[in-house]
Amino acid sequence: MNNKVVWVTGASTGIGKEIAMAFSRAGYIVVVTGRRKSRLVNLAGEIKFAGREASALVCNVASERSVQSTTKRILEKYGRIDCLINNAGVTVFKSLLETKVMDYDYVMDINLRGAFLCMKSVLNKMVKMKKGHIINILSVAANTVLDNSAIYACSKAGLLALSNSARKEVRKYNIKITNILPGAVETAMWDARTRQKYKNRMMNPEDVAAMALKVFEMPKKVMVEDIIMRPQKGDL
Ligand SMILES: NC(=O)c1ccc[n+]([C@@H]2O[C@H](COP(=O)([O-])OP(=O)(O)OC[C@H]3O[C@@H](n4cnc5c(N)ncnc54)[C@H](OP(=O)(O)O)[C@@H]3O)[C@@H](O)[C@H]2O)c1
Repeated sequence: MNNKVVWVTGASTGIGKEIAMAFSRAGYIVVVTGRRKSRLVNLAGEIKFAGREASALVCNVASERSVQSTTKRILEKYGRIDCLINNAGVTVFKSLLETKVMDYDYVMDINLRGAFLCMKSVLNKMVKMKKGHIINILSVAANTVLDNSAIYACSKAGLLALSNSARKEVRKYNIKITNILPGAVETAMWDARTRQKYKNRMMNPEDVAAMALKVFEMPKKVMVEDIIMRPQKGDL
């Protein structure tokens, strides 16, 4: 077993869950976090049943205290965080005219502030270790105009800008920052009707997980900066 520790946020369902499974199958120790404890405990149990190491911790990425205590617990248990996968994210499908301030706060607090808090919380240790990798799950919405997604796009574009600045600062410490920008993926983020209608066209969460693992396993001297992946037939 590899002793590298990979922290996946928002691992209860969808892309995060598949990322945790893919990294675990590849032999890494995975720490799965999110708000729904029972799902995380089940996932970690499944991984342990297969003979691999995993921990499940409740972490609300929008809460600074929750993120800090999670980071502390991971470091107390394993002494290292080799990879943070900023995957936790939400959306509200509304036009800008319909969007309320509370919708803005909800999406920005999780997608942008949450990723910022997690990134900040691991970077000091990574700088000391002079290595580490942060993989952000963004969206094509970061650089494409999609319907009913203005605030979501804003949160992902903000994280893209934050990551680009952070990468410039920390590459001298051998720290890698990769942004993955997927198009539509069949997960609970979409309502049942849309999933049913487009399920043959949407990518699967396993596709994004495979890409995250691939970029993590690139040679030490290679930093994959941005990956854009879309359904073959384009956006919905
Ligand atoms: N599906 C797509 O088409 C698509 C395309 C491009 C990018 N993405 C991105 O992929 C990521 C994963 O989304 P998904 O499609 O897999 O949807 P999903 O199945 O709804 O997963 C979202 C995850 O985020 C977690 N989460 C939400 N709020 C959180 C919070 N405050 N703190 C911690 N975790 C939180 C949820 O777990 P808990 O509820 O247990 O906390 C859940 O595990 C998101 O960043 C999304 O923007 C999705």
